[in-house]
Formats: sequence, C-alpha cells, structure tokens
Amino acid sequence: MVSDLERVKAEALSAVREARTPSELQALRVRYLGRRGELTALLRGVGKLDPALRPEAGRLANEARQAVEAALEEREGALSEAGAGCGAETLDVTLPGRPVLLGRRHPVTRVRQEVEDIFLRMGFEVAEGPEVELDYYNFELLNMPPDHPARDMQDSFYVTPHILLRTHTSPVQLRYMRAHAPRLPVRIIVPGKVYRRDDDPTHAPMFTQVEGLVVDRGITLAHLKGVLEEFARAMFGAETRIRLRPSYFPFTEPSAEVDVSCTLCGGRGCRTCHNGWLEILGSGMVHPEVLRNGGYDPGKVTGFAFGMGVERVAMLKYGIDDLRHFFINDVRFLRQF
Ligand code: PHE
Repeated sequence: MVSDLERVKAEALSAVREARTPSELQALRVRYLGRRGELTALLRGVGKLDPALRPEAGRLANEARQAVEAALEEREGALSEAGAGCGAETLDVTLPGRPVLLGRRHPVTRVRQEVEDIFLRMGFEVAEGPEVELDYYNFELLNMPPDHPARDMQDSFYVTPHILLRTHTSPVQLRYMRAHAPRLPVRIIVPGKVYRRDDDPTHAPMFTQVEGLVVDRGITLAHLKGVLEEFARAMFGAETRIRLRPSYFPFTEPSAEVDVSCTLCGGRGCRTCHNGWLEILGSGMVHPEVLRNGGYDPGKVTGFAFGMGVERVAMLKYGIDDLRHFFINDVRFLRQF
C-alpha cells in the first residue's frame, strides 16, 4: 500500500510538471483525483487496512493528495500566465492583418481652411473670439438694442440673461476693433462656430461662419464686391459669377446678400438652385455707429463686412443636400472627402 502510494504520487507529480495545456491538466486531475481516480482509490483502500496500519497509511495518502492538488494548481497558474493559447492553439501568421483605419479632416474643416487660405492670399489675417459671448457684443454694439426686432432672426441659446452662445461671428468685429483702434487697416477674417435655435435640412443648431471685416480710409462697396468675386472664383471655379441683392442687417448700411451662380447647373437653373443662384453670405458697409462703437471715426474711415456659412459653401462645393450630414458622424459620409 505505502509503496503504491509513493509510486502513484511520483507519477502524478511528474505528469503534472510536464503538462503543457490547461486541458491536459484537467485530464490529469480526473485521472488521479477524480471519483474513480488512482489516488482516490488508494485513499479509499485505507479504510480496509489493518487498524494498526491505518493512521500512518491515512497520513501518507492525505499528504500525497495534497501534494498533487498543490502541483496541479501551481501548474495551472504557470500555464495561464504564459498565455494559455501559445502552446497548443496555433497562430496563423498568413492571415491578413486588421487594417488600421486612417482618419481624415472633416469636410467642414477642409472648406474652412480653404476659405482661410483664399483670404490669407488677399492679405487678410485670422482673428478669433469667444463662443460664449456677452449680449453686449453679440447684439448691442452691433446696433441691436434689447428690443430690436432683428434679434428674432437669430433665436438664441442664453446662458444667463446677459450671456449667450454667439449667434454669429460679428461680435468679433467689435472685439477686434476695440483691441486695435485706431490702427489701420483692419483686414481680418474670423472663422468659428456659432449657435442658433434652428434644426432642419438647411439649418443646424451649431454651424460654422467666417466673418470678414475691412476698415480703412476710402473703402467702398466696390471693394466688397471685388473681394467676394475673387473669393467665389477661387472657391468654386473661374467661371463663377456673383450678385448682390439688397438686404437688411442692423450693423451694415447698405446691406446685401450675396449669391453665387449655381455650381451644379452653371446658372441655368436646376433642382437645387431653382433660379441659377445660391445664397452664401450676408454683407454690407459697416454701419457708422458700429465703427464708432469699435473706436473708429466714421467721418474718416469706412469699411465693409460679410459673414458666410461654411457648411453652406461645403454643400455647394460637394453637392450635399442635407446640412445635418456634417454632424451625424457617419464614416461612410465622411470617408468621401
Ligand atoms: N452676421 C450676419 C448673420 O449671421 C451676417 C453678416 C455679417 C451680415 C457681416 C453683414 C455683415 O446673419
């Protein structure tokens, strides 16, 4: 009995040491310690021995079982640490790898940078302002006192009664002028996000504008038209035409909305443009009061300003029919640019 115990224990321990996978270990556990295992049988045999021999044999048998148990556990730990798969499971090195998806610039970012490049070539510099803005800058200094009806055109997100998410980039006209007056010329563009309570195929609650502001001695509407014509040709192609339609903004006088000839039909008229023209921006000659609010003397200098919608420009450039495509982050859409 004792020699059987020693033999089985030694066999079990060396088999456990040599096991190479968790499933081999499991098989050994069954073989030695299972209900019909070899060691289990010997343990049972103790009860049938001569009573004088039982205590010693029982102790040895228990010791053997504990030793095998401990060896199994240790080996299990070692195998799982080594990464169970490596030994037995195979690694197919001929499988194609998983491709790493490359990101790209968002179409709105691309177009915004293109707009910036075009104006930088014309001698403009880029300025910025806060997206959370004071009512004072967003409206009041732009000739829109608290009860002005033009505020209704820009339904706003208010943070407090005097602070809101800016509804346009025009407040930066004032921030810039106030920081730089009376230096001339002022020749800036202001790209940035703006917020309005709108949500339909051509309006999103957040969108991107590029503001333009030029202030100097002798600036006229002709300068405005020339600059915008140059922009439209650089952005949409040399054959592009623009037209100015009379409009109203409290901070420009006179004011005009600017259309470009439709990029899809060349201006003949199609489903998208209806009449051959597409609106891309609002503009005008800076109102004398706004110049004064900015620290400039409207008796000495004049200026023009414009504000264009970058998503609108991107839609025209790429023939996109719903503005909201830009913001739902569907990679099938984004990958096309
Ligand atoms: N801020 C105006 C808008 O968002 C656009 C604009 C800018 C008009 C500058 C005139 C001059 O509707």
